[in-house]
This record gives sequence, structure tokens and C-alpha cells, in this order.
Amino acid sequence: MKKTYGVVLIGCGHIGKAHISDIYFREEIDIIGVVDLQPELAKAFAKRFGAKEWSTDYRDFLNRPDVDIVIIATYVATHLSILRECLAAGKHVLCEKPIASSLEEGEEFYHLVKSHPECRVQVAHILRYNETYRRAAQMIHDGMIGEVRLIRMAQNHHIMNRERYATLLRDCPPIVDCGVHYVDVIRWFTGMDIVTLSGVGCRIGDVAPEDTYNYGLLTMQLENGASAFYEAAWADTTASSNLKEFIGDKGRIRLVLQEYRFQDHEEGDLIEYYDAVENVYHTINIRSKYKNMWGQLQGLIRSIETGVETFPTIDDVYIAFRLALLGDQAIKEEKFVNLRSDRELLD
Ligand SMILES: NC(=O)c1ccc[n+]([C@@H]2O[C@H](COP(=O)([O-])OP(=O)(O)OC[C@H]3O[C@@H](n4cnc5c(N)ncnc54)[C@H](O)[C@@H]3O)[C@@H](O)[C@H]2O)c1
Repeated sequence: MKKTYGVVLIGCGHIGKAHISDIYFREEIDIIGVVDLQPELAKAFAKRFGAKEWSTDYRDFLNRPDVDIVIIATYVATHLSILRECLAAGKHVLCEKPIASSLEEGEEFYHLVKSHPECRVQVAHILRYNETYRRAAQMIHDGMIGEVRLIRMAQNHHIMNRERYATLLRDCPPIVDCGVHYVDVIRWFTGMDIVTLSGVGCRIGDVAPEDTYNYGLLTMQLENGASAFYEAAWADTTASSNLKEFIGDKGRIRLVLQEYRFQDHEEGDLIEYYDAVENVYHTINIRSKYKNMWGQLQGLIRSIETGVETFPTIDDVYIAFRLALLGDQAIKEEKFVNLRSDRELLD
């Protein structure tokens, strides 16, 4: 890295805190400002994380020459309008996922990024920067489980902060909000297209608006005929659970995150690997930070400095977004979506 980057954080909530707490003390980073509609939050973040200034209006910072990078960590419904103004001001952007909550806004987001190559835009698919996920991806790419035949994933939350989840659910259900991560994981790990989507969903309790659902089960097929599912709930009565399992014709990988380990918690995340050819079980401990925000920001800086594409590319981000929206539509309209290739969604 050649210089110090001036950064502004917009949105001092849950994920805004994860971003800033991992970057504010880095030598290469100068936190110029923090912004939130709630002044007490912005003020507290400024004090805690050494920001020079705070505001309730992000426009106060967009035309300043000392600002290089803007982190957008607000609700999904605001991502597009803030991105539009950041790009008009010539700023690089790290934007939280999902890019939008509707097809029209998502399309505009994608085309805006494509039409501003002078500004680098990284969308926060944070699992791409998680060491445990990266190792599992490498193991699969190296053929350690053979051809992937089945992917089983679940991420259910027992909600303890109703207000936050009620706000998130007004914009999109968890099958879209978190689902963009996991359809991206499927494509990243396997290098294959997702070609069918279907599913079911329901309301549990009253935290979700009446026209949507807070439990979804998305079922998918990959281009080689492999099956995959992703299950997501945000409800008062669901238990927290996490399943990430990748099954091939020569073996199996299961990820057990540190917080879900029953023992040896201090050793970090666990990759359980079954090598069916040798009939041997391996356990691999990985000291991994779940949300490696600094690694992700370094990825954006690398893209700014060298011109290489962001990781994941905006095409991969957009395909994941479109697939998650199609999954949502399949659940709401009880239909089966069939694609020749998921890359056709870029046209
Ligand atoms: N990558 C991940 O793993 C991950 C995890 C959680 C949330 N997220 C995403 O992050 C985004 C925010 O979620 P959250 O859980 O942090 O929500 P949150 O409610 O905790 O925080 C959002 C904050 O943004 C502020 N805000 C909203 N509009 C604003 C505006 N126009 N200007 C300034 N501040 C504004 C709100 O006041 C609030 O403090 C969502 O898109 C969510 O999907 C990503």
C-alpha cells in the first residue's frame, strides 16, 4: 500500500461497527468521518474510533479531497442512492450486501458500477475474505472431495433484537439478505452455474411484515445435476443453528464455526474432512476471523492500486443478487425457475 486512505463510514449500526473496529487503528487508514441518522450513534462512534468528524448527513463528506473510500453500511433500501452520489463525487466504495432489494434498483447499481471504472466498488461478500471458507474453497478446487454432488447449508437466527430484524425484514427476507452470501459460496466453491431454483417459506411470529416471510428454504440444482439447499430463519422462536456441508463423490467437508464447536473452542473454526478414497477422517483447525473487514478493505485497496477486479467481481455479485431474488420469487409465487446458465442473468 502506497498511501494513507481517508475513509468515511455511513451507518453506525451492527455491521458498521464490525467494519470500523477492524480498520480504525490501521496505519494505512485515516477515519475522516462517521455518519448516522441517529446523532448519538455517530457521536459515540467518532469518540470511540477516533474519527475526526461526525455528521447525520453523508453529503457533508462526499466532496472533500481527503476522502478516498466510503463504506456504505446502511439499510439495503439506501445503498443505490448513496452509491450514486459517491460515484458522482469520484469516491471508491465498499458497500454492504445485498446491493438492492428490487430488480430495478439492483440493475441500476450494477450498471452504475460498470459505467464508473475510475471508481472501484467492492460489495461486502465477506465470506470471500474468511480464511475458513477460503481454505474449504481451495480444498474443493484441488479435487479433495471429487465432484460436488450435494451442498447443505442453514443459517438460522434466534432474534434477540426485534427492532433491528423488523427493519431488515421490511427491505427483504433472509433468503435474499443472507442468501446472496450462500448462492455466491455455491458458485465460488464449485465454479458451476445454478440452473434451477424453487423453495418454500412461511411466517413465524409477527416480526415480518404480512406480505413476506421470515423462514425460507431455497432448493437449487447445479449445472452437473448436483443438489443444494439453503435454509434461513430470523424468528423469535427458532434456535440459532449453522450447517455448512459440501459432499462430493470422493469425500465430504463440513465447516464448524468456532461458536458452534462443543469442544476445543480455543482452536478456532474446524474443517471436518472425510477422505472417502482413503477412508480417513481429518480435522483441520483454523484461526479465522469471521468478519475479516480489514482483509476485505485491503482487497478494495489492491483493486484501487493495481486496477485488478474486486473479489468477488461485480458480475459475480450481481449474479448472486439475481439468483437470490429469483429464489425469493420462486418461494412467494410457488414456482420453479429454470435457467440455461446463471450467466444469462448478466444480459
Ligand atoms: N456482511 C454481513 O455479514 C452483514 C451482516 C449484517 C448486516 N449486513 C448488511 O448491512 C446492512 C446494515 O445492516 P445492520 O445489521 O448493520 O443494520 P443496523 O440497523 O444495525 O444499522 C444500520 C444503521 O444505518 C443507519 N442509517 C440508515 N440510513 C442511513 C442514512 N441514509 N444515512 C446515515 N445512516 C443511516 C441507521 O440509523 C443504523 O444505525 C444491511 O444491508 C445488511 O444486510 C451485512
